[in-house]
Amino acid sequence: MSKSFAFELSRRKLLAGTAATVALGATVGNAKAQTPIAQALAAGRPSLSKVSFTVNGAAREFELDTRTTLLDALREHLHLTGTKKGCDHGQCGACTVIVDGRRINSCLTLAVMHDGDSVTTIEGLGTPDNMHPMQAAFVKHDGYQCGYCTPGQICSAVAVLDEIKSGIPSHATADLNAPVAFSNAELRERMSGNICRCGAYSNIAEAITEVAGRQV
Ligand code: FES
Ligand code: FES
Repeated sequence: MSKSFAFELSRRKLLAGTAATVALGATVGNAKAQTPIAQALAAGRPSLSKVSFTVNGAAREFELDTRTTLLDALREHLHLTGTKKGCDHGQCGACTVIVDGRRINSCLTLAVMHDGDSVTTIEGLGTPDNMHPMQAAFVKHDGYQCGYCTPGQICSAVAVLDEIKSGIPSHATADLNAPVAFSNAELRERMSGNICRCGAYSNIAEAITEVAGRQV
């Protein structure tokens, strides 16, 4: 038997053995009892789950596909379209909402994870006739151009000032033993997850700084 033929044989045996092992593993995996979600997915149907949380002060209850993000629950199920879908990958901040006082990217979290939580969207901060101070400051300082990132910017800015007031440090905080103070560096670091493709950053910073001057 030539050397190359012997090598070919052993390579075939190896491939056949590997395939058998994979097939056996899949059979064992299928045989194991799967979670209800896995069973539903395997059967090609959505796995539904009940969830209830408060949105802008109103109690809401849904039965949702467990894969629904908080962003899609807000936009598609509650028709609160003020919260924007920019990247859907946690990279732009357009979908920022406030959950139990903390800002989060609603595209990166599943709605079913928020049972019992309190969610605030841009619609819950203020109305055109009765704007939140941060909304009013954005209008005054022209802190937007197309406005697509603006709801996320405003929700984030509101939460940022609360973070600073609560003494939560950031990567830009120089002295962790001193009280956290508002500064341009703190503002830019904390707002860095909110991208503005129109580049309205200087006006956004002016708006937030004005509100911070009154609050922090
Ligand atoms: Fe969520 Fe961009 S849409 S971070
Ligand atoms: Fe257009 Fe920010 S105002 S993306």
